[in-house]
Amino acid sequence: MQHLLKDSDLDKAQILALIALGKQVKANPKKYGQALAGKAVVTLFEKPSLRTRVTFDIGIAKLGGHSVYLDQQNGALGKRESVQDFAANLSRWCDAIVARVFDHQTLVDLQKYATVPVVNSLCNLYHPCQGLADFMTIAEHYDDLSKVKLAYLGDGNNVSHSLLLLGATLGTDVTLICPKGHGPDTQIFKQAEALAALSGAAIHISDDVADIEGFDVVYTDTWVSMGDNTPMEQVKEIFMPYQINQALLDRTGIQHVLHCQPAHRELEITSEVMDGPASLILDEAENRMHIQNAILLTLMGHS
Ligand code: CP
Ligand code: NVA
Repeated sequence: MQHLLKDSDLDKAQILALIALGKQVKANPKKYGQALAGKAVVTLFEKPSLRTRVTFDIGIAKLGGHSVYLDQQNGALGKRESVQDFAANLSRWCDAIVARVFDHQTLVDLQKYATVPVVNSLCNLYHPCQGLADFMTIAEHYDDLSKVKLAYLGDGNNVSHSLLLLGATLGTDVTLICPKGHGPDTQIFKQAEALAALSGAAIHISDDVADIEGFDVVYTDTWVSMGDNTPMEQVKEIFMPYQINQALLDRTGIQHVLHCQPAHRELEITSEVMDGPASLILDEAENRMHIQNAILLTLMGHS
C-alpha cells in the first residue's frame, strides 16, 4: 500500500489489516505515541471540514507527528501554481499528503508528481477514510463482516461509492436505495459487482424504500453534497421518503444506524434516531481518527 486514492486500491486482507490496526491504536494509544516522531503530514482542503480536519490533526499529534493544514482560499488547487509543482514542493518537506478535493483527477495528479504517499480525504467520487471508519465501527459490533447486511438510503454519492466498494471486497451485502436519477455512478457499481462476484457479497440498487427488509445496519448521508447547489426545497420533495426515522427502524427491526455527518436533522435522519440507542454515529466520528492513524502508520511503513 503506497497511496490511498480509492477504496478499490485495497484488497480484503489490507482492509481487514487496517481495521485491526485501527482497533489496536484505539485500544492502546500509548504504544503508538512516538510512531510518527519526526514525520510531517500536510492536510489540504479545497472544501470545508470538521471531522476530517480535526481527526487528522489531533490523530497525527497523538502519533508524535506534526501536521500542517492548508486551505484553498485562493481557489482550487492548481490555480496559483500547477498541481505538479505543488506536489513536488510538498514532497521535499513532508512525509505524506492528505487531500480533500473537488475532482478525483486532482488526487491522481498529486500522486503522479508526489514522492510521498497521498491519501484521499474526500473527492467527488470516493471517501475511503470514511468508509474504512464505518467498517471499523461495524466490526466493533459484528465479528464477521462477510455476514453483515448493510442498507444505504439516500443519495448515490461519494460515501455510498466507498461503502459499496469496501463492502463488495469484504463480502458484506450492500443495497443502495436511492431515488430514481440519484443512484450511484454506473461504472463504480459495475466495478463493485465484479468485486462482489469474487467475495460472494450481494450488491443491489433499488429506488423502492419497501426493499429495506432484513438488514443489520442502515446508513445515510446528506442529500446535497458539497458543491451541489440544488435548492433544499426541491431536494426534500424527492428524498423525504428516504428519511431514516424511528418508524423505519420499528418496521424493519434494523439494529444499527450510521451517518458520516455533517447531518441535517429532520431531513435525511431524525433527531430521535440520531440521538437514540441504535445510533453509532459518534463512534464512527471517533473512529475516523483511529483508522486514519492506521492508514498513516501503514503508508509510512510503521510495523
Ligand atoms: N464525515 C466527514 O468527512 O466530515 P467533515 O466533512 O466534517 O470532515
Ligand atoms: N457526501 C458528502 C460527504 C460529507 C462528509 C459530501 O461530499 O459533501
